[in-house]
Amino acid sequence: MPASILSDASRYVFSAIREEDDFAEDLRRHGKKVVKLSSGDPALYYPTPKYIIDAYTEALRSGRTTYSRSQGVIELVDAVVERYRKRYSLALSEEDVIVTSGVAEALTFINSALIDPGDRALILRPYYTQYPVAIQMFGGRFLAGDYDEEDDWNIELDGLAKLLKKGNAGRKGIKYLLITNPNNPTGTVLPRKALEEVVGLANEHRILLISDEIYDEIVFGGARFTSVCELAGGMPYLVLNGASKAFDATGFRIGYVLAPEGDRTSNEIKRKIADYCRVRLSANTPAQYAIASAMANGAEHERTVRELVNAIERVVDSAMKLLGENECVRAVKPNGAFYIFPKIRMDRLRFKDDREFVHALLKEELVQTTRGSGFGAPDHFRMVALAPKDIMDDSIRRINGFCDRHSR
Ligand SMILES: Cc1ncc(COP(=O)(O)O)c(C=O)c1O
Repeated sequence: MPASILSDASRYVFSAIREEDDFAEDLRRHGKKVVKLSSGDPALYYPTPKYIIDAYTEALRSGRTTYSRSQGVIELVDAVVERYRKRYSLALSEEDVIVTSGVAEALTFINSALIDPGDRALILRPYYTQYPVAIQMFGGRFLAGDYDEEDDWNIELDGLAKLLKKGNAGRKGIKYLLITNPNNPTGTVLPRKALEEVVGLANEHRILLISDEIYDEIVFGGARFTSVCELAGGMPYLVLNGASKAFDATGFRIGYVLAPEGDRTSNEIKRKIADYCRVRLSANTPAQYAIASAMANGAEHERTVRELVNAIERVVDSAMKLLGENECVRAVKPNGAFYIFPKIRMDRLRFKDDREFVHALLKEELVQTTRGSGFGAPDHFRMVALAPKDIMDDSIRRINGFCDRHSR
């Protein structure tokens, strides 16, 4: 037997978001009441709307319990086609939509399909934690551009242009550029202008653009969301989305990949991802029918998503005000998703790094957050703004008191 039976690449498979879960569980077992601000799961605090639960129950009752069409049941595929026609005036055909078990599975399929050992893919920091894992678990490497905190976490375009130029010069170019809009962990809704430039860069360097738009409906009052599909026509690109956030149905595990173009690269990807779907048989069948029905029920969806977004916005506004009283942290106000990503002013605190900060905060104040280094942004921490306002406000007051106590 070798010293370790595990593959080399498996060492990258790790979740920074869940790394304090065992410690938090231990605290709970000892009777402590931990506030969980670490999980981007709306259904934890806002139950999945009743009309979606009813649709799921109905799917079960009517015997939708078999494996289903591997790339997604046609009802859901058609609902997605219709969603994009209505929201973004995009004309998709059924083959352009592939249903996966969440965007998480889509990321695994895409990277497995595109990445050979040694290949590179380009992501931007701070990134969603799964992106580097999904690249590295297939032996790939990731290059990281940046979202610029000093520019409200907008894309740092000059740096991105340089990386693309340098990266494409070698024998093996960069496989794809992946952006997240609205963003996790920063909550930024990217301005249309920045997206136009990114699309221009991807076009110029002939690189596949992937846009993870899973928060596309969670956008606050003042901001306007633009989908890459409104700008990228004529070049190969993918959009990732799903039911987890906008339909408040994380546990249903429904996501999808859109490959709207008909060029050779897009067609190759579509066909190969469909193969991956066939190999894993099918996504959750009753859940697909439930989400198909929810997507078709525009009135109920509009009402419930509006309520959810308004509630989140109120929580975020109040949290930002209270955080403003803390001189040891500084946060850019998010305008979408449900995250707040403050910078920790380490020079003012007696902590070695963000990991120590987050661990001590959990231990002393029973508030569970996630260290920024897990998102490629050391000296930050991420809070999920989904808890009710009073709980969130109380947590921020505890964070403020904690910082006071530990300040130099
Ligand atoms: C940016 C981003 N992409 C993908 C996911 C995973 O989504 P799913 O539940 O569809 O797997 C998340 C979950 O938090 C996310 O924040």
